[in-house]
Amino acid sequence: MCGITGYAGGGNAAEQVFEGLKRLEYRGYDSAGMAIIKPSGEVSVVKKQGKVDVLKPYVADMRGAIGMGHTRWATHGKPSDINAHPHFAGGIYVVHNGIIENYAELRQQLQSAGETFISETDSEVIAHLIKLNYGGNLLVALRTTVKMLKGSYALMVIREGEPQIAVAKRRSSLILGYGDGENFCASDRPALAGKCKRVSILEDGDFALITAQKIEIFDENLNPVNRPKIENTLTSEKLDLHGCPHYMLKELREVPQTVKNTYSSFAGIGEKLKEVFKGTKRVIFLGCGTAYHAGLIGKKYFEAFARVPAEAENAGEFRYKNPVITKGTVVFAVTQSGETADTIEAVILAKSLGAKVIAVTNVIHSAISRHADIVVPVSAGAEICVAATKSYAGQIAALYLCALTFAGKDASSKEYKQLDALCPVLENTLKEINVYTLAHMCACSNGVYFLGRGFDYAVALEGSLKLKEVSYIAGEGYPAGELKHGTLALIDGNTVSVVLITDEELASKSVSAVEQVLSRGGKVAVITCLPAVAKALKNKAEVISLPGCNKFLSPLVTAIAVQELAYRTAVILGRDPDKPRNLAKSVTVE
Ligand code: M6R
Repeated sequence: MCGITGYAGGGNAAEQVFEGLKRLEYRGYDSAGMAIIKPSGEVSVVKKQGKVDVLKPYVADMRGAIGMGHTRWATHGKPSDINAHPHFAGGIYVVHNGIIENYAELRQQLQSAGETFISETDSEVIAHLIKLNYGGNLLVALRTTVKMLKGSYALMVIREGEPQIAVAKRRSSLILGYGDGENFCASDRPALAGKCKRVSILEDGDFALITAQKIEIFDENLNPVNRPKIENTLTSEKLDLHGCPHYMLKELREVPQTVKNTYSSFAGIGEKLKEVFKGTKRVIFLGCGTAYHAGLIGKKYFEAFARVPAEAENAGEFRYKNPVITKGTVVFAVTQSGETADTIEAVILAKSLGAKVIAVTNVIHSAISRHADIVVPVSAGAEICVAATKSYAGQIAALYLCALTFAGKDASSKEYKQLDALCPVLENTLKEINVYTLAHMCACSNGVYFLGRGFDYAVALEGSLKLKEVSYIAGEGYPAGELKHGTLALIDGNTVSVVLITDEELASKSVSAVEQVLSRGGKVAVITCLPAVAKALKNKAEVISLPGCNKFLSPLVTAIAVQELAYRTAVILGRDPDKPRNLAKSVTVE
């Protein structure tokens, strides 16, 4: 949440920072700002409420070779020009991603010392503290300041008259990019795509000084330290929309490739995974939102293939329930970004109680990876849309392969081959799917309920989340059997119930749920890969027929249908599916 980026070099810093912010906009988009050091050493600032484009008219006039910017997801203080970053005091300018937990007391102390505040943010205290702590060395002032802060931060600081950017990091990600006569820093890799060949990922407690000529990294005591320089494989071409109107659609179309890539990258870790699994008696899946929903499917895979006790839990709940971790517990941390604070904190707790940790993530060098015994890659590539699509598919594929490995199956098993063989089926599903009628039904409804049993229930939860997230239509995901225990009271002619039916053994039960809704006058749509169900219901409900596949892999197929439905409904309603209101992609606050 919140994106920050900085540039020092021969180019036009304002253009570079603006471009970096555009690429980080998925991290927050309620306000944005930039600070650029002019050739005279003075600093020019612009900060505005709204998406990054509000800065565009100012870029041409902001001349200078060094600068930094911020795109915000508000935590303290409503979105406004004043609350937008950079914050400043006495020639010190700061952009911050994270939360300063003790800001209220610091603010009071600073006010007592005569400092005047203009914003409602937690971040403004940082600028005042650096101003007061400055004794001729910006880095030293920054270190003295961060020692006074509780919470999380990725910070960039500039000072009038000093041609450099000082940065500090703790529990919020920060990446440095080594260019040719120019250097970069940013919260996340998309800002650096195609800009530099190598990047370093800062560790908690690190500081750095960035100029056009060099990047110097220091540890928490300001001793010089080396961090590995890794290849920057992300190109700007990979961030292109490739003719799609939205990232959500583009990324949905990349589901088959994601499954293929996740399958291939798994080959490299199978043996090490077996080592980690030794002595495992119980498996817990932790994640938030879509990642939690993938964990629900992972749980079913482990129970079915390995008959091992498995649980899936929302990471934010797990952390505060005084969890029971018994000997032989393995925790799967499922997280696309690898940055989600709730998941990271839950994993730290589980680890401290003796659990082994397996991170299933799309960002291999992310914060979660440092807490994991092994990282299982989700090879989805950059996912820009706030709503997760292809990463969900990658997570499911990775968990499927983990469960097979645990059950002693290898690449020669039929189950492995079935996943590999699914990619053309997913491609066809994407080509053939038509949810327009259903999307119109949803767009005109008062509420949409997603129902299913078994794997279909797990995907029903995800379908409901996705529709709410991008179209703002209320609804819920339910086990189909639960309907008659309460939710049926909500059904009327203005509601739509989307019933997923893919498991032959459970089909007749789910069809009963369809009949229950129909007899209360509710509108029904059925998403099924069972021809007999499609035939039986075609005159009673809107039927979306999907290709047949085994029930364990059905979530990959039905996920495409519910994600496509959410996307089409959002577009009909004129929403921006890539940047839903009030949200941000990486949720780095608890
Ligand atoms: O990066 P993570 O996978 O840890 O993110 C977890 C959730 O915030 C995320 O899946 C969220 O629910 C998505 N925006 C849903 O589309």
